Amino acid sequence: MKLRRCTIVMFEPREEVSVDFNAMLAGRTELSTTIAWFALAAHLEQPVPVSAAQRELLGSVGSSEWTDAGDIRGAPGDWRALLEAGLLIADDEQHATHRLRDEGMRDGHWWPLAALVHRHARWSGVNSAAQMRDSNMVTARDLRRQLGAPPPAVQIHPGTYQPLPAVDATDYDRMLERRTTCRNFDAARSIACGQLAQLLQRTVKAQAVVQVEADTAFLKKNVPSGGGLHPTETYLLVQRVDGLAPGLYHYHPVRHALVALPRQCGRPLHEVALAMLSGQDWFANAAAHLVLVPRFARTNWKYRNHAKAYRALLLDVGHISQAVYMAATECGLAAFVTAAINEVDTEAVFALDGVTQSPIAVVGIGWRGDTPDTAEFDPNGVVWARS
Ligand SMILES: Cc1cc2nc3c(=O)[nH]c(=O)nc-3n(C[C@H](O)[C@H](O)[C@H](O)COP(=O)(O)O)c2cc1C
Repeated sequence: MKLRRCTIVMFEPREEVSVDFNAMLAGRTELSTTIAWFALAAHLEQPVPVSAAQRELLGSVGSSEWTDAGDIRGAPGDWRALLEAGLLIADDEQHATHRLRDEGMRDGHWWPLAALVHRHARWSGVNSAAQMRDSNMVTARDLRRQLGAPPPAVQIHPGTYQPLPAVDATDYDRMLERRTTCRNFDAARSIACGQLAQLLQRTVKAQAVVQVEADTAFLKKNVPSGGGLHPTETYLLVQRVDGLAPGLYHYHPVRHALVALPRQCGRPLHEVALAMLSGQDWFANAAAHLVLVPRFARTNWKYRNHAKAYRALLLDVGHISQAVYMAATECGLAAFVTAAINEVDTEAVFALDGVTQSPIAVVGIGWRGDTPDTAEFDPNGVVWARS
């Protein structure tokens, strides 16, 4: 068997605080602190605790060339443990799962720190809404009480600020004023298929295809994209769109068409939406959810191991979400965006591998309900008329 180190791994010394039992037996309450090393790999979902010997061993094995297992320096028990954990990669069939995931990272041309940030920030089974409520961190006043005052809302530089002219509002300004994140969707009202089509057409549809070579095309869209690469796919969870069966879809930005995707589980769509949105029930009634999923290799094809590639990807998703807000607001619909999503659960729903593509945010659209049961940020009373 031949071995090599996985493509991207970094080590973190973590402090663990525990109760000192010896002190406790002597009638004292003391906390003892220990430092443990963890390996964070880009193809593994969880940090792996490692001993000092395993850490050194891993650092002595190359990640590009294969080494015979017999030539590995260190105790066999150590390299075997690293192999089973996926930190060492083997060329045999038994360890193919870790090898394939690692090859996905290798071929993905990731900048190592970005790969680690993406991998280890993903959630599975988190209920952020329950956490917020349990810790009484729901309203702005709750936050102030528990966290103290935030940094000021406005930064003041020394000097004299020159006033700018107030420009007369146009229809565009009035539309902008109506853009407010919706947390009160009408759970009974469907949107028209034409409304969803128009929204997709305005935001993620390709307005032109520039064919550079037979196998190389660039898309022009109404949103900007780092490197003009438009790596972000749109997957949909449709709950109430007239003429579209409720279910999961993928959008083709050139054909302007949807394909139905197989359901990976028999759970009701509303439950799937709730899990995806980490329990944020105030968003789950949107008529359609758009899951924004970059294909990392498309961006990293140009920006190989590039320190800014992941940042550009995140900004791309932000542009799409703002465009969705605008397109929805213009036709009287409401919208939201959230990054507080369970990426791992969402990947399972849409059969995404989480290595070559993985969701960054979910946006939703639908009709606003009649009552503001959950607070929205509408201080000027534009959306919810002042009573
Ligand atoms: C990147 C991003 C992530 C967000 N995530 C959440 C979220 O998880 N839950 C939520 O209720 N609102 C979320 N929002 C909406 C913001 O809370 C909202 O934009 C903010 O309160 C200002 O309100 P407005 O959009 O109505 O102006 C998010 C907004 C952005 C841009």
